Amino acid sequence: METKITEIADGIYRLSTYVPHIAPPAGFTYNQFLVLGDEPLMFHTGLRKTFPVNRDALSRIMPADRLRWIAFGHFEADECGAMNEWLAVAPQATPAHGQIGCMVSLNDFVDRPPRVLTDGEVVNLGGGKRVRFIDTPHTPHGWDAGVLYEESTRTLMCGDLFTQLGNDRALTDGDVVGPAIAAEDMFKYSCLNPSMGATIRSLSNLSPHTLALMHGPSFTGDGTAALRALADDYDRRISSEVSKVLRSVAA
Ligand SMILES: [Fe+2]
Ligand SMILES: [Fe+2]
Repeated sequence: METKITEIADGIYRLSTYVPHIAPPAGFTYNQFLVLGDEPLMFHTGLRKTFPVNRDALSRIMPADRLRWIAFGHFEADECGAMNEWLAVAPQATPAHGQIGCMVSLNDFVDRPPRVLTDGEVVNLGGGKRVRFIDTPHTPHGWDAGVLYEESTRTLMCGDLFTQLGNDRALTDGDVVGPAIAAEDMFKYSCLNPSMGATIRSLSNLSPHTLALMHGPSFTGDGTAALRALADDYDRRISSEVSKVLRSVAA
């Protein structure tokens, strides 16, 4: 197993670990993102079991002990399972997450106290990089879910949104909505909820130029259109499910 590195935007690196035995034959990627700055930030820790390869990959970009922030989208093993391993090799790093996630999980789980981020809060990383944490509860899943937006490069680190199979490229300007719909059909990983479409549509107001997918290639192009199309699909999907429930209640 190896972790590949690609600079997806100025000073933002994708560290991608491909796992062929998940959803074969296409396989599945796990991606972490490193945002350089005076206070470098990593988004997602990767799995605890892949920590050695991920640490070695990050060390090819900068010493791990320079990390100052470790953030993630929601409390799951691939998003934050290796948090304490990273904190051990990065003594200046602070875990950071939203209010719900800190209250429910992080205050107990992490070896150092987390920085609690409020919805919309911006952390200035220095070197021109500023990241904004945005709550997206239950979207695509997890009460504590959120995304991180780097303002200078207009990069939305969108976690499990747009999840897709395969490992054919690190960066794409092609369709990321169709493959995401296919993966949702296969995995049914989202917590379908009435607010989901609106939550994703509100992210389109950021006008992102790059969408940094946790599972899939990074997308460059019209992020607004991609987010709106994904929101429309979830509205369609949720309406269909609600209709089925209403029919069964009426029967
Ligand atoms: Fe997840
Ligand atoms: Fe994930």
